[in-house]
Amino acid sequence: MSYYKVDNLEQYFKHYNKSVREPRKFWGKIAEENFTWYQQWEKVVDFNMAEADIKWFTEAKLNITKNTIDRHLNKRGTKTAIIFEPNDPNEEALHITYNELHQRVCKMANVLREQGIQKGDRVCIYLPIIPELAVSILACARIGAIHSVVFAGFSASAVATRIMDSACKMVLTADGGFRGNKTIELKEIIDEALEKCPSVTRVLVTKRTNTPIQMKEGRDQWLQPLLEEASDNSVAEIMDAEDPLFILYTSGSTGKPKGMVHTTAGYMVHTAYTFKNVFNYEENDIFWCTADIGWITGHSYIVYGPLLNGATTVIFEGVPSYPDFSRFWQIIEKHQITQFYTAPTAIRALAKESLEYVNSYQLQSLKVIGSVGEPINEEAWHWFNDHVGAKKCPVVDTWWQTETGGIMIAPIAFVTPTKPTYATLPLPGIQPVLMDEKRNEIEGNQLVGSLCIKFPWPGIARTIWGDHQRYKDTYFSDFPGKFFTGDGALRDEVGYYRITGRVDDVVIVSGHNLGTAPIEDAINEHPAVAESAIVGFPHEVKGNALYGFVILKETGEYRNKENLFKEINQHITDHVGPIAKLDKIQFVCELPKTRSGKIMRRILRKIAAGDFTDFGDTSTLLNPEIIDQIKDGKI
Ligand code: PRX
Repeated sequence: MSYYKVDNLEQYFKHYNKSVREPRKFWGKIAEENFTWYQQWEKVVDFNMAEADIKWFTEAKLNITKNTIDRHLNKRGTKTAIIFEPNDPNEEALHITYNELHQRVCKMANVLREQGIQKGDRVCIYLPIIPELAVSILACARIGAIHSVVFAGFSASAVATRIMDSACKMVLTADGGFRGNKTIELKEIIDEALEKCPSVTRVLVTKRTNTPIQMKEGRDQWLQPLLEEASDNSVAEIMDAEDPLFILYTSGSTGKPKGMVHTTAGYMVHTAYTFKNVFNYEENDIFWCTADIGWITGHSYIVYGPLLNGATTVIFEGVPSYPDFSRFWQIIEKHQITQFYTAPTAIRALAKESLEYVNSYQLQSLKVIGSVGEPINEEAWHWFNDHVGAKKCPVVDTWWQTETGGIMIAPIAFVTPTKPTYATLPLPGIQPVLMDEKRNEIEGNQLVGSLCIKFPWPGIARTIWGDHQRYKDTYFSDFPGKFFTGDGALRDEVGYYRITGRVDDVVIVSGHNLGTAPIEDAINEHPAVAESAIVGFPHEVKGNALYGFVILKETGEYRNKENLFKEINQHITDHVGPIAKLDKIQFVCELPKTRSGKIMRRILRKIAAGDFTDFGDTSTLLNPEIIDQIKDGKI
């Protein structure tokens, strides 16, 4: 019996139970039957949760690009692997076959090797959503270099932090990127970032926007001429199962971003398996995930998951509102998309616009629609289900994280009955538990708790680049022996999970995971600011928006608060990026602090949300009177 595909609910429970009773047999069989290996593993999994030490498929040898590309060439060489839909609808879409993808990746891999990149070197990729981005990722994987894709909306200083943290040797970028009616000057941002990054000796630049740029002698080169010269045959490096495949930075609740490290074999098995099942992938499907490849969703479900299954995956350069709000629907009709995977923030934004935009297009090709990145509210769920899925496409609300590598809790399309706002059941192999405040496992249903996972799964990130202690402290110390997700969840009467949101200091704004600390650091750099605290508050479209409580220095120089608000937002844009700008600001004299000096954020969250009902236990506050002052200041 194959475990790779679940066909009905009864089989789901069978596979699920097998995966819990005999996880080694379960994952071992999936790995053996569906992938190409140079050498088999010794142990399917070897772990010590207390030490945060997890290994999958020990001693196995493979190259993931053999599995994403070469393996398909015989049967699917002329099948489209990637459809590229440009920002401008008048520019022709590009169809790249598996044969062409193989050629492009080999050429790129050879260029990287010629430029001195070797197995284990880190390569920063700062590109728009164009085919070169997917090709660069795969070329790194081909030669065993570790890719570190940085979202092309981050500022120079945010990129620099990420490049320095993992000491990247090379940056792959473009002259610029198109996004709606804007052009983003990517090379200029990289030039500024690299002033602080001595490890980078080579920059390869793709031409996309024809923006005039500076080329630094000895460091920068145009990519195209190098590709033209390169051979289209490239031997794949033999990688160990646990060799790092990539680093992807995610926000932490404190300090600098965390470089989550994903390794080769486990990530491969997890993303391939979840893609196949959750989306009910079949051979002739055209899969479209609208995420940015700079986030984990793009890594796992635009690039790796689909290509591992020999699928056709769409990559879209633009935004849902350009040239108008019908763009998504137009693309679905144009490419006859069968699975459409997007984020609640996009759904809410589009649901606010006229229904005419949706109704003007034929969306009958769709069979599964999915959501990811934050809790989907009931109204958005129904709008998506009624108007996009025409009530016939299962809505797969998929819960997972950068840290988990792939989907963890989600309906399996056409197998698991869906329920609005519920991510429903864990996928086979995933063992979630809810923990109470006393750190005990909550048995039974209809309860809320902290969401942990009690057994390793193949896609789990193995460490934080350069800081294993932080990895251990962040994920394995709150609930010993378990992985703590940072999310709260509720389990209903039949065991379905509903994710209620972050329980730590991370705020999800328009699906972007933002740590409060780096934003506060940026605000505090403003000369007028003494201290600040930011929290999220509910926002109709973004899910959450940021509310800043700011204490000013007593210099009296900054009397114009409106200008000050603008300047503070500019500081945030420069240090973190425009996605982290504050929607609201309130100047206060003090912040509510405990005797140990910790800001009591739950109080600020309530004030920001306009909920003044019950502030709970404030006995540990040093300055309880400040609550009324801040509250009155808000009114
Ligand atoms: O709070 C959860 C929320 O997004 C967080 C992970 O963010 P990130 O690492 O950026 O990865 C996003 C894409 C996988 C989670 O801790 N989240 C993600 N998916 C859902 C969700 N919250 C509720 N429902 C979801 N389906």
